Amino acid sequence: MKDIARSHDRLLIIDFGSQVTQLIARRARELNVYCEIHPYQKVTDAFLHDFAPKAVILSGGPASVLDEGSPRPPAAVFELGVPILGICYGQQVMMQMLGGRVERGHGTAEFGRAFVSPARAKDRLLEGWFENGPEQVWMSHGDHVSAIAPGFEVYGTSPNAPFAVIGDPARRFFAVQFHPEVHHTPRGTRLLQNFTRLAGFAGDWTMGAYREEAIRRIRQEVGDKRVICGLSGGVDSSVAAVLIHEAIGERLTCVFVDHGLLRQGEAEEVVAMFRDHYNIPLIAADESELFLGKLEGVSDPETKRKIIGRLFIDVFQKYAGEIEGAEFLAQGTLYPDVIESVSFSGGPSVTIKSHHNVGGLPEKMGLNLVEPLRELFKDEVRALGRELGLPKSFIGRHPFPGPGLAIRCPGEITREKLEILRKADAVFIDQIRRHGLYDEIWQAFVAILPVKTVGVMGDGRTYDYACALRAVTSVDGMTADYYPFTHEFLGETATRIINEVPGINRVTYDITSKPPGTIEWE
Ligand code: XMP
Repeated sequence: MKDIARSHDRLLIIDFGSQVTQLIARRARELNVYCEIHPYQKVTDAFLHDFAPKAVILSGGPASVLDEGSPRPPAAVFELGVPILGICYGQQVMMQMLGGRVERGHGTAEFGRAFVSPARAKDRLLEGWFENGPEQVWMSHGDHVSAIAPGFEVYGTSPNAPFAVIGDPARRFFAVQFHPEVHHTPRGTRLLQNFTRLAGFAGDWTMGAYREEAIRRIRQEVGDKRVICGLSGGVDSSVAAVLIHEAIGERLTCVFVDHGLLRQGEAEEVVAMFRDHYNIPLIAADESELFLGKLEGVSDPETKRKIIGRLFIDVFQKYAGEIEGAEFLAQGTLYPDVIESVSFSGGPSVTIKSHHNVGGLPEKMGLNLVEPLRELFKDEVRALGRELGLPKSFIGRHPFPGPGLAIRCPGEITREKLEILRKADAVFIDQIRRHGLYDEIWQAFVAILPVKTVGVMGDGRTYDYACALRAVTSVDGMTADYYPFTHEFLGETATRIINEVPGINRVTYDITSKPPGTIEWE
């Protein structure tokens, strides 16, 4: 745990492997409560003592408490004297450990929408609930609680879950059979808010406060040394750079490598913003010849990624090596990158695509790391960016992959194709902005296809490239749905691309979701 977290009240989320545990943390952060997720195996008595939570949430999970060796929190968690909320599996394990009973779900398993009605007893936990009748909740359980532990009373019931919401008011232990953290439980955030309020959280985890504290910590960590920060043009590295610059001023130098695979105007924008607007010392290295040269004739996606990843490290190292006295490397690592996950399968997960970053650099160069965003979720990084005065257009930017346009140009990469792709992509994004759709879409881009097709323009025959538009909604890029543009929008966009972009005579729209597709084409 970092010093910044130490100075705030902390909510501990014990993870039993639910797919949606991260959402509990995100909801808590939205309520300005500092929280951390830790896998149940890590939560020992000593850990609890050191972490000193103000409240605890036991997450859901795929196991059954009726199986031998099923995961449990340490008994000490119930001796802390702090409020506890058990969610789904968390409820069941809590009942089992405190003297209630859990049974296998023969015909009582529930997946999906259910409605909870109030029971006779009431509690602050459900303040704001039932104002318009029963509340919609999201259930996902096989087993169910068949008898509640001594001291508990019932606050809410559903047709298949008589103990949908229960609590022991004396000990302030609560448990719900459904998932309050998901959007399908519309008043779930209110329940979590009630829980954090009754636990006494001050709601002091704001990005305004974080900014001040992070600046203090960076000064402490870095002392009078110099820091190097690799800028990608994305939100994370930009926010990290501006924050560090506020902390140590001229002792930060940013390095921005143009690998020749950026979008239209992107390199110029980054340089203008950091060097001219923020006055941050910036080395902008145009290495496009080097990268494109090495990529010549390469069409395998993983080979492209490897070449780009390796070259990037070499080039970055070369420029960073010229910065005298640098002892620290800044990285825009976020909290989701460092949360340890609970894996029940035990097997290694399959590598679908090797996503490159600058991993390995710090050891190779003998540098220490500064990671000022390590405690934050993406939404919080954006909020911090707004605090720091970064332009809205920058903060709300769609993510852009490290290998850039290389993976949007299936097959061989040529300068000609890249030029065409840049133009088509710029028209597509312009269309999205003009129609006010940019913020609704998680990521949008054009891929130029490795195929030429016949068309007709005016009186002549054309033989040019086909392209595919891709636009998806997503929460974290792990799953995604294609965006439902109107036919008018698609027709207008296709016409504009064909009229404005020489080299393209056919436009298609990719309507594959992820899974089974991936977001990028390579
Ligand atoms: P996929 O295509 O795997 O993409 O569904 C999910 C998200 O990851 C981005 N992406 C990458 N980012 N290096 C990166 O830094 C990569 O090699 C890479 N490949 C995909 C993609 O843009 C999307 O946001």
